[in-house]
Amino acid sequence: MLGEACTTHHIDVTDEQMNLFVSDLMGHMTLREKIGQLNLPSGGDITTGTVKNGKLSEMIRKQEIGGFFNVKGIDKIYELQRLAVEESRLKIPLLVGADVIHGYETIFPIPLALSCSWDTLAVEKMARISAIEASADGINWTFSPMVDICRDARWGRIAEGSGEDPYLGSLMAKAYVRGYQGKNLQQNDEILSCVKHFALYGASESGRDYNTVDMSRLRMYNEYLAPYKAAVDAGVGSVMSSFNIVDGIPATANKWLLSDLLRKEWGFKGLLVTDYNSIAEMSSHGIAPLKEASVRSLQAGTDMDMVSFGFLNTLEESLQSGEVTEEQINTACRRVLEVKYKLGLFDNPYKYCDTLRASKQLYTTEHRSIARSIASETFVLLKNEKSLLPISAKGKIALIGPMANARNNMCGMWSMMCNPSKHRTLLEGMRSAIGNKGEVLYAKGSNIFYDENREKTATGMRPLDRGDNQTLLKEALQTADRADVIVAALGECSEMSGESASRTTLEIPDAQRDLLKALVKTGKPVVLLLFTGRPLVLTEEAVNIPSILNVWFGGSEAGDAIADVLFGKVNPSGKLTTSFPRSVGQLPLYYNSHNTSRPDPDKNVFNRYTSNYLEDSNEPLYPFGYGLSYTHFQYDNMVLSSNVLKKGEKLTVSVIVTNKGNYDGCEVVQLYLHDIYADVVRPVKELKDFKRIFLKKGESREVRFVITEEDLKFYNSNLQYIYETGDFEVMVGTNSRDIQSKTFFAE
Ligand code: NOJ
Repeated sequence: MLGEACTTHHIDVTDEQMNLFVSDLMGHMTLREKIGQLNLPSGGDITTGTVKNGKLSEMIRKQEIGGFFNVKGIDKIYELQRLAVEESRLKIPLLVGADVIHGYETIFPIPLALSCSWDTLAVEKMARISAIEASADGINWTFSPMVDICRDARWGRIAEGSGEDPYLGSLMAKAYVRGYQGKNLQQNDEILSCVKHFALYGASESGRDYNTVDMSRLRMYNEYLAPYKAAVDAGVGSVMSSFNIVDGIPATANKWLLSDLLRKEWGFKGLLVTDYNSIAEMSSHGIAPLKEASVRSLQAGTDMDMVSFGFLNTLEESLQSGEVTEEQINTACRRVLEVKYKLGLFDNPYKYCDTLRASKQLYTTEHRSIARSIASETFVLLKNEKSLLPISAKGKIALIGPMANARNNMCGMWSMMCNPSKHRTLLEGMRSAIGNKGEVLYAKGSNIFYDENREKTATGMRPLDRGDNQTLLKEALQTADRADVIVAALGECSEMSGESASRTTLEIPDAQRDLLKALVKTGKPVVLLLFTGRPLVLTEEAVNIPSILNVWFGGSEAGDAIADVLFGKVNPSGKLTTSFPRSVGQLPLYYNSHNTSRPDPDKNVFNRYTSNYLEDSNEPLYPFGYGLSYTHFQYDNMVLSSNVLKKGEKLTVSVIVTNKGNYDGCEVVQLYLHDIYADVVRPVKELKDFKRIFLKKGESREVRFVITEEDLKFYNSNLQYIYETGDFEVMVGTNSRDIQSKTFFAE
């Protein structure tokens, strides 16, 4: 992926026109005004008083900001834009940013869940709708997609990305960018996308947020960089640097990363913004106080300073003392202005301020119904003993658990623009689905945690009502007693994943685990609906609970979407894009790992002097690519068109997939490759292609994949992107573990 030729420049304005315009404008700008363009404050932090009189307004009038973010509402944004283009000297319009990462008012599942659909068209559609809604509310720039590969479920931000795989992650990255930016940013519902966090943020040591990252170039190039590069290739207009260090230097000031790799090697021409306050935070990092940090960051290639006010307040002085050049400031300013030009803001500064659109295009019936159907594609059926699911929409169902009726917890992290009072909870969704054919009984059952303080920390800004631990359990058992089947809705609350939500344990929180055990003890069938923003350790549940449906955080329509799957209106088809560990001690854990010199010969027992653990196997509980369906897909007759791949030619792999069960359904057929011997150790398998197919019950289909030299390439020890002749293993299957394989020789 990284080896592809450089950028496709999708933004359709002639560079020459733009250059003339920007040069002319810059010719009229003072140094202070140019530096002002590099300043990106958070509206939330500094809008004091009314919009007209706040500090932000003053800065706009003085042309001391290039844009702002975190302001909700078309009227406020309109007014701020008006100040910029009517009350400032040069009338330069503003960028208006927001973290619209899985929907705006119509909220879609969290990105990790979205990736489990393996449906790039669905992701593109969700990004399109996000852009339509956000732009209708005045926003012209979204800080999405987040494409950090993550292999450690302790990291809360795993929820924001597309999982552990560079290939799938790259396809998703492109889909987001296409969806947000549309054809060429010319329409008023096409907004600037910002790929983040560049780079390697997902490899934070021990999954602790903001922690150190240290990685070889080989690993970067082969395993971590591809999704960022894919976004650049898709024409993403902006990039956000990450909080972490890369080779000991914070990404914010890392010249190799921001200039040599991103701009020179990959040809990125857009806007580079820092993450929140990260120039100022280079002081805590131990690099330099604000002034020097600002110099280093600008010199490394940063254009915009998010929140630190380092550029605005120190660059003039640094210019005088010769630490930065005017050319460096001009270059950054030019890039900010270019983005505004590409967005068409100079032609029409109110392009994204059509106040009529907001009332018509937010949270529409159409958007909600798409969100509902996409949500149902993202749920992953982890276990379904004796086909307990789907349950019939009749009789008495006990819905028990703290997530069952938690209105403010359905959407997941980064959904501050949503309006939970309009959403249906799971209880409401199930009741509406069942109508008068049956009864859904409800009990909260438990708190999130027994301990109130612990719960407070976990729920953050979305607290849940607490009850007495004993009483809740008693009520749960009484409710369960009256029912034919129990649906337990529990797991993490929404603020337990996302930024600054790292964990050292990954079990279901204590009070809920006990609740679940007590429910199982009743002897009634129990379905676990697991709410989570990350893989959890489900080792016990996998043994004791007959059916587990992982529903992540499904967005504003989750209540209905879960009911659709629970009652069988929709057959689940999600597949994991992140490995579920057996224990925290296995982390980091990922399917595309390397063989050691001493591979584990038997996965089920401990083998001394081989690479394994005393207590547990190396295998995940649920592997990458895994996910069941209400039906069963059988794979037969894997055929390779030849056992030699000749230079410049291609190979075809085919397999017959048959829907053997009683439901129509979707299956994601996966293709993996393994380079058996190579200059550098290669992963035991790597996803290279997949096909998401729909099969009616009883239907069979031949699924074909084409393999070319491109699929065999990797970065060798000299960082050359090549393939080596020799033997390869090709694998096809329903997940990364259950596969059939054949070998071929590449000439
Ligand atoms: C910090 C986060 O790391 C980043 O993802 C986000 O876009 C910014 N804050 C702005 O809210």
